Amino acid sequence: MTKVLVTGGTGYIGSHTVVELIESDYEVLVVDNLLNSTTDSLEGIKRITGKEPQFIKADCSSKAEMTKVFDANPDIKSIIHFAALKAVGESVEQPLLYYKNNILSVINLLEILKERGGNFIFSSSCTVYGQPDELPVTETSPIKEASSPYGNTKKIAEDIITDTIKANKGINSISLRYFNPIGAHPSAEIGELPLGTPNNLVPLITQTAIGLRDCLEVYGSDYNTPDGTPIRDYFHVVDLAKAHVLALKKLINNTNTNYYNVFNVGAGNGITVLEVLKTFERVTGIKLNYRITNRRLGDIEKVWADTSYAAKELGWKAETSIDEALLSAWEWERRLNTRN
Ligand SMILES: NC(=O)c1ccc[n+]([C@@H]2O[C@H](COP(=O)([O-])OP(=O)(O)OC[C@H]3O[C@@H](n4cnc5c(N)ncnc54)[C@H](O)[C@@H]3O)[C@@H](O)[C@H]2O)c1
Repeated sequence: MTKVLVTGGTGYIGSHTVVELIESDYEVLVVDNLLNSTTDSLEGIKRITGKEPQFIKADCSSKAEMTKVFDANPDIKSIIHFAALKAVGESVEQPLLYYKNNILSVINLLEILKERGGNFIFSSSCTVYGQPDELPVTETSPIKEASSPYGNTKKIAEDIITDTIKANKGINSISLRYFNPIGAHPSAEIGELPLGTPNNLVPLITQTAIGLRDCLEVYGSDYNTPDGTPIRDYFHVVDLAKAHVLALKKLINNTNTNYYNVFNVGAGNGITVLEVLKTFERVTGIKLNYRITNRRLGDIEKVWADTSYAAKELGWKAETSIDEALLSAWEWERRLNTRN
């Protein structure tokens, strides 16, 4: 069995990817410092797959801790690196925290791979495109100045990976630029668990629907879009998890060295914030209490992905409908609230 290190594997996207990896017969070692997650997701993974992955609580930004992980697990040849801080607003207030955590983690893992060789899959983001000049946005579109330190950590990390691959035979890498993953595993055993106030739309919707919030704020209705609210490319987190398994297979099967590639991962079409709200209301039958407020600093008007490159090279495309994705998010919210 091929062993894979999944950093940030108790988090939202990481835990869904661990499920897909186990179901594709990989052996998984999860490393997380539990800054933004709990080990409950490991139990959820076990209920879904029948297997609980090995877990080590460790901080990727500590070289000593990561070296210890690798010394104890010399058979690891592949890393899927999710571990990062991701709150855009917090990154504006505490840029050094974000640069230290997100950048040092990437450097530490690449330094270890430089010694041992292996594969590195990186969680990048469509934030690297800023507001694209042309839509849908392709992987060759210009990278724009980041609108937050968080976004900048993704851009800088991609540069660090590119330069490292060029200089080091024996490391192969893929960066996946995620658009807007939403929803939860269809079993409702794992899902998004934002600690504190969520930054993303769907947890805000489900928390409002269940009564944890009185009112949902929609930031701006004066954008140049059909209903004035921003357009994003929402797609199901399980589809995103599957993209990682395909990327891993591609790297493992690749006999060339110094391979590096970047893929957009999204549904390939965009919908507005109000369309998401209306879809949620239609599929759940729940009326959402929302109000329009001012634009939020740093939000762009519209973005959606051209995913033809991922289709061609990885054989991947998003398959789950927005209706199913939103229903799965709702089932997860309900499950969370019956547990508490
Ligand atoms: N969710 C999105 O919409 C989105 C979009 C684009 C990119 N991403 C990226 O995908 C990755 C996963 O995001 P997510 O939504 O699952 O977030 P998440 O917060 O649920 O998961 C990240 C995990 O990393 C852990 N972590 C953070 N710093 C760590 C460190 N130094 N050492 C060990 N563990 C650490 C956290 O405890 C958490 O469990 C992140 O890199 C994020 O930037 C997410």
